[in-house]
Amino acid sequence: MLRNKHILIGITGGIAAYKICTLIRDFKKSGADVKVICSPNALNFVTKLTLQNLSQNEVYEGEFTPRNWKPEHISLADWADIMLIAPATANTIGKIAQGIADNLLTSVACAFSKKMIIAPAMNVNMWQNESVQNNIKILEARGVDFLPPERGFLACGYSGKGRLCSLAKIYNAVNEALNYSDILKGKKVVITAGGTIEEIDPVRYISNYSSGKMGFALAKSAYYMGAEVVLITTKAFEAPFKIVKVKSALDMQEAVNSEFDTSDYVIMAAAVADYRVKERSEQKMKKENNDKLTLKLVKNPDILAELCKHKRAPHPDPLPKGARENDCVIVGFCAESENLLENAKAKIEKKGCDYLVANDISRKDIGFGVDENEVTILDKNGNTTKLEKASKVRIARKIWERIIN
Ligand code: C5P
Repeated sequence: MLRNKHILIGITGGIAAYKICTLIRDFKKSGADVKVICSPNALNFVTKLTLQNLSQNEVYEGEFTPRNWKPEHISLADWADIMLIAPATANTIGKIAQGIADNLLTSVACAFSKKMIIAPAMNVNMWQNESVQNNIKILEARGVDFLPPERGFLACGYSGKGRLCSLAKIYNAVNEALNYSDILKGKKVVITAGGTIEEIDPVRYISNYSSGKMGFALAKSAYYMGAEVVLITTKAFEAPFKIVKVKSALDMQEAVNSEFDTSDYVIMAAAVADYRVKERSEQKMKKENNDKLTLKLVKNPDILAELCKHKRAPHPDPLPKGARENDCVIVGFCAESENLLENAKAKIEKKGCDYLVANDISRKDIGFGVDENEVTILDKNGNTTKLEKASKVRIARKIWERIIN
């Protein structure tokens, strides 16, 4: 299943390092090519000879060992299809999150732009440390998948959450990531993100709390699955794919419409304002002569509903040369503060989209502005799939799996 895949394993200095020997064997047995990088402390727990024999490759540790003209941290990053760091110590997680590159492992991680999976293992108190948890959040926001440690008896004598998760879990996560790596190859995906900004005058605007994080996670996930991605967003993001920055609902509609006919998937994760001011003031509005201010609002177009209508419209027969039938999969989002499922069911019918992802914004721990979400996916046949609370990155991946399958 992993034939010809290049797996780069970073081992750091924790007692669970010895377990990775078995994992290397499992990857090799599945046909993968494995290379190992050790942090300076990892070799206190496991020998270079063992890792070398199991991986059937040289084991990398020093940063300044000239072997060819290309710096090692770049050639290893280029070689790998995926990077797994297991076990990952609090120290290495912190360095990677903060961009510190002071040994070969952290330098490769810094130069690595493909899929990265991290399986931490440490003392229970270290795991609960706020800085460690913040560093994990930083990396998750960048698309790194974490395989959290499990509860149990720890080598330090403590009992609690901290031991490396099972090798089967790590194997499956790597296998899944590699096998999904080109599932969207050749597909064009358009995603909207963030709350639209409806200007009142050059200074003020009407908007909402949407941070764009869910849309960004969906875009990144699609990119790692090989898609051509266009993210149409009101928020600024750095990404290795096309980003179209927009402000208002009308800008967003124009951008979405111009991509729609060549798209295979459109996901409207943006929180589009339902209304805009009828007449935006060219100059800053003054309060001096106004004790009361009345703003006249007009309804914005429903971008999602109009896309669905356009998709269902009869195609010219025969189709113009080079054109194709629009079989784009259209996905909407719905944020509700009450009666989530009932409202979502009514909405998928009204809008006419293929899937609707519903989330409950009355809860403070999920949804707007935070890094985690819990959603229910509805399809047009009335089926529902609940995704339990997880990071938005993980939820994004699960949404894609549901839509693709
Ligand atoms: O109607 P409601 O705002 O709850 O619908 C949410 C879904 O519809 C989201 O996918 C959102 O991006 C989309 N939407 C839209 N145009 C609007 C309002 C919402 O495309 N004017």
